[in-house]
Amino acid sequence: HSMSLNISGSKKTGTSTCLLKIVRALMSNASSMRKHIDYYSRFSPSPLSMKQFLDFGSGENACERTSFTFLRQELPVRLANIMKEIKLLPDHLLKTPSVRLVQSWYMQSLQDIMEFKEKDADDEKVTYVFTDAVIKIPNRHNDVIPTMVQGGVVEYKETYGTDPIVSQNVQYFLDRFYMNRISIRMLLNQHTLLFGGKVRVNPAHPKQIGSIDPHCTVTEVVRDAYENARNLCDRYYMNSPELVLEEFNVKDDRKPVTLGYVPSHLYHMVFELFKNAMRATMELYEDSMDYPSVHVQVALGSEDLTVKVSDRGGGVPLRKIERLFTYTYSTAPPPSMDGQRSPLAGYGYGLPISRLYARYFQGDLKLYSLEGYGTDAVIYIRALSTESIERLPVYNKSAWKHYKTMHEAEDWCIPSKEPKDMTTFRSF
Ligand SMILES: Nc1ncnc2c1ncn2[C@@H]1O[C@H](COP(=O)(O)OP(=O)(O)OP(=O)(O)O)[C@@H](O)[C@H]1O
Ligand SMILES: *[C@@H]1O[C@H](CO)[C@@H](O)[C@H](O)[C@H]1NC(C)=O
Ligand SMILES: [Mg+2]
Repeated sequence: HSMSLNISGSKKTGTSTCLLKIVRALMSNASSMRKHIDYYSRFSPSPLSMKQFLDFGSGENACERTSFTFLRQELPVRLANIMKEIKLLPDHLLKTPSVRLVQSWYMQSLQDIMEFKEKDADDEKVTYVFTDAVIKIPNRHNDVIPTMVQGGVVEYKETYGTDPIVSQNVQYFLDRFYMNRISIRMLLNQHTLLFGGKVRVNPAHPKQIGSIDPHCTVTEVVRDAYENARNLCDRYYMNSPELVLEEFNVKDDRKPVTLGYVPSHLYHMVFELFKNAMRATMELYEDSMDYPSVHVQVALGSEDLTVKVSDRGGGVPLRKIERLFTYTYSTAPPPSMDGQRSPLAGYGYGLPISRLYARYFQGDLKLYSLEGYGTDAVIYIRALSTESIERLPVYNKSAWKHYKTMHEAEDWCIPSKEPKDMTTFRSF
């Protein structure tokens, strides 16, 4: 408002005063954004269950107005919570260009939604424009993960080295930051798929409710992920291990295992596990013509749906297992940056991001290794749609403390290689 006044009046007041006014307008905009962030970060995010997502999106229930009023509150809450947490990162990290860039995307998206704060929810034009605005947000944030990892973490490590406490905090932060991002994309995606087109069906997947398949056939997703991972593997190693797939359904063993879930999330997880299993197998058996198959077991019980991917790629020592879940750890050469084709490995965040997808709906992802033999990677998913509830980070005193308190000193003995003085040991 005031900005357009300034510009039209620029001839009379002279350029310098005009510029001053523009700068003032921008600053007042920044301060009003700060107020919005403070306000919305005081709310806790409201987690939704898979059942709620399904009920809301099916049949006559789906209502653009309800979704609009929910999102214009919930999106700013989730955005503001994480924007507050970004500011708890160490100063050096906050100042990197990548982190600043990411912050500016979050600011812009929050601003886009704030436009609808006072708008009339009963006005169809408003909800229409909102849906249009929402469609644009995910694209803006497409490169958040590589920017944060390659830029933020790598840049930082190069300049300041690795401090174990900083690394621990960064890992803690990235897990929460990416989880928040997964959740925001889920909300945006549901709204866009349900209300973005003329008809409320996803043309590619007519039986889905937005991005959720109420009867997702697990083995179909597994086979699909296997085929695509295998294609990559064939390109790198000229060969690939076979798949052996078994399933067990406690409800009815003649029926395939199905559940209400987001197929793209499940696909993401098993695809990453297949790539890892294939790479380990191919690297270990390098020149032999015969490779041990990758075994997958899918089991549906009353509480859990479990998917186990087993390879005979030589495994990983227990000491290193935790490290595999950090965001930059990879034993593969860095992928070429031409972006022409996706590599089989090399970014180092395949496992941590997959674990977040599993945890997002209260599941988990674990690795059990038999060093010298092979690895079992296990995905746990809640079998009941009422139990699959979004797991969301919240910014409050507890989170704040995590970054600010000094970490306790070690309270376990550090093993020495040899007892220093065997004589005292004997007499004792
Ligand atoms: N099944 C496995 N057997 C042996 N080592 C494994 C297995 N899965 C993972 N690893 C080790 O863990 C590391 C990290 O795996 P992760 O999937 O997170 O990253 P990556 O495969 O290196 O790269 P990308 O992000 O492209 O997947 C791998 O580089 C590899 O050394
Ligand atoms: C932070 O929020 C969580 C979840 O709402 C809650 O359990 C916890 O007690 C809160 N911590 C503080 C210090 O308020
Ligand atoms: Mg990988």
